[in-house]
Amino acid sequence: MENFMKLEIAALGENESFARSAVAAFALPLSPSLMELSDIKTAVSEAVTNCVVHAYGRETDAGKIRIECRIEKTGFGGTLHIEITDFGRGIDDVEKAIAPFYTTLKGDERSGMGFTIMQTFMDEFSIESEPTKGTVVKMSKRIGMERTAEIPRAEERERVNA
Ligand SMILES: Nc1ncnc2c1ncn2[C@@H]1O[C@H](COP(=O)(O)OP(=O)(O)O)[C@@H](O)[C@H]1O
Ligand SMILES: [Mg+2]
Repeated sequence: MENFMKLEIAALGENESFARSAVAAFALPLSPSLMELSDIKTAVSEAVTNCVVHAYGRETDAGKIRIECRIEKTGFGGTLHIEITDFGRGIDDVEKAIAPFYTTLKGDERSGMGFTIMQTFMDEFSIESEPTKGTVVKMSKRIGMERTAEIPRAEERERVNA
């Protein structure tokens, strides 16, 4: 059976490290390299942070963030599919929002690079958003696909065991 997990958390900053660690832990059976794990954590971190700071805002009560992951096994490795959903204010112009350095929170610590980072670190990326309804970010990463049967020792040592 295909492996999956679903997680619902309050959109609070303190849940960001929990969310990225939970997704990374779920990916461990695919034996990701430290680099792959780090990419996944960073992408999840950016998506969850966006839900916390943009979807619901800081002044309002925290909303909900839903995180759904699925592992698609393929040959030696597999693909980790991640969907991060919020039910917040949504994005008016998605094309504009994903442009590098675009941010609606200027002067803050925001860099406008969140979506660019997600696109760079993951193999697939897409967003669906509806103003006042919320946003879904979908990302996928192939893990262990380029590896040959014989893994160089250095890389072997770097690999993380479940
Ligand atoms: N979940 C979300 N809900 C509503 N708006 C969002 C969400 N995620 C991102 N945005 C919008 O897209 C812009 C770009 O996001 P991002 O690239 O992560 O940059 P930053 O978070 O630094 O502003 C944000 O400034 C915000 O206007
Ligand atoms: Mg961001």
